[in-house]
Amino acid sequence: MTPDEVLDRLHELQSADLPTHGGRTLAYVYDSGLAEADELGRRALEMFASSNALDPTAFPSLLRMENDLVAAAGRLLDAPDGFTGSVTSGGTESILLAVQAARDSRGDVERPRMVLPSTAHAAFQKAAHYFRVEPVVVDVDPHTFRADPAAMAAAIDAHTVLVAVSAPSYAHGVVDPVAEVAAAAAAAGVRCHVDACIGGWVLPYLQRLGAQVPAWTFAVDGVTSISVDLHKYAYTPKGVSVLLHRTADLRRPQFFAWADWPGYTMLNSTTQSTKSGAPLAAAWAVVNAIGDDGYERLASQVADGLRELVEGVEAQPHVRVAAAPDSTLLALVSDETCDVFTLSDEMLARGWFVQPQMAFRDMPPTLHLTLSAATAPLVPEFLVALEESVAAAVAAGPVQVAPELAQAAAMLDPATLDDAAFDGLLQVAGLAGDDGSLALPQRMASVNALLNIAPPPLREALLLAFLDRLSRPTAAGSPAGG
Ligand SMILES: Cc1ncc(COP(=O)(O)O)c(C=O)c1O
Repeated sequence: MTPDEVLDRLHELQSADLPTHGGRTLAYVYDSGLAEADELGRRALEMFASSNALDPTAFPSLLRMENDLVAAAGRLLDAPDGFTGSVTSGGTESILLAVQAARDSRGDVERPRMVLPSTAHAAFQKAAHYFRVEPVVVDVDPHTFRADPAAMAAAIDAHTVLVAVSAPSYAHGVVDPVAEVAAAAAAAGVRCHVDACIGGWVLPYLQRLGAQVPAWTFAVDGVTSISVDLHKYAYTPKGVSVLLHRTADLRRPQFFAWADWPGYTMLNSTTQSTKSGAPLAAAWAVVNAIGDDGYERLASQVADGLRELVEGVEAQPHVRVAAAPDSTLLALVSDETCDVFTLSDEMLARGWFVQPQMAFRDMPPTLHLTLSAATAPLVPEFLVALEESVAAAVAAGPVQVAPELAQAAAMLDPATLDDAAFDGLLQVAGLAGDDGSLALPQRMASVNALLNIAPPPLREALLLAFLDRLSRPTAAGSPAGG
């Protein structure tokens, strides 16, 4: 392909994506609205795309930038003298490493466990799966959606290597009672991780502006590690999170070295070995360009937008906010006359992406909204779209899962769901194209409604089959597309 053809094709491919900027995508992406900072981030990506953090002595620039970002995160999160940390590729990697380090610090525990509130991010379950740490999931308070400290304390036993809490949780945007849980963990001699992946770079600024949030940083005794993602509220390009540890000793088991082979001695601080310098440099650029005052202004902008959003939602019929948000994200609940999945389709048809969250135990399905600074000035427009979408969803009535489809799904065994069974379900659901391929509808409400009634293990199996079907080279065609 010629350079022009390559670029044209890339633009064409990208045109099907959700917009990353403009403030109308309320999940997955974060937009500061600061074009200059974005441009600096892109310049830094370009400058360091081929640099390799595999060897910090060969690329001292990357080591310096990493230490600078860890220091900045430490200042924000009240880290004490002697703290340390690492830059990782994202929230999930930070959480994986916190769990792995906790497990490996306790060679004396044969069957390690970690205690999690039921609202803990799914990344902890991934860590449990990868590292064979048994998750002990404790119900949250059904009204506040916050972790129940007494129940979490009671769940700690001799096998526990880690206790985790969120600041705030992704699903409801509320901060767990960190002090109580961390105290219980400390009393048992167990590590306590605060997952501030989504809140860590904005909550401290909201608090400076007067927000009342119970203590959740290293200012709380017993907190041993905190994860904070820069690719969220530090508004950097994707691929950067920081994992902080209270002491260097706590971090040590996270490191890996291997000398017993004929090549270079592998020495890694995080999961990756060869590690692009691009996201790190971009984060360094953006963090320094926006600066402390800049982040405070952005936080203030989001806080104003959020207040207006909450008030606007509460003034509308059929929808409400699940829990008063502690940070900058919230969940919307609708009544039974207004189907949430139809609501999300209607919002998308009006140019707004909001993220459906399935029912969980006694909690109904909700819509997740993460507010970026760039969304704040658009809140009045958002509220108009919401009002129209609610009216349209109420007029459309609830989405019914066809009984034959519900029955076909109920017959599936998640443990043995194979290609043939998945194809059969696609046929019954009307999601099979003429050639048997997947034909997703424009509107997702019916698919979401089906997934919503599937028990989690079946939902996982269906989505894994779906992912497997999507990510096959034949579906993508030739490199040039087509
Ligand atoms: C609280 C929390 N933890 C962890 C993660 C996982 O982060 P990532 O998607 O960067 O792996 C997220 C992502 O939204 C989050 O909100």
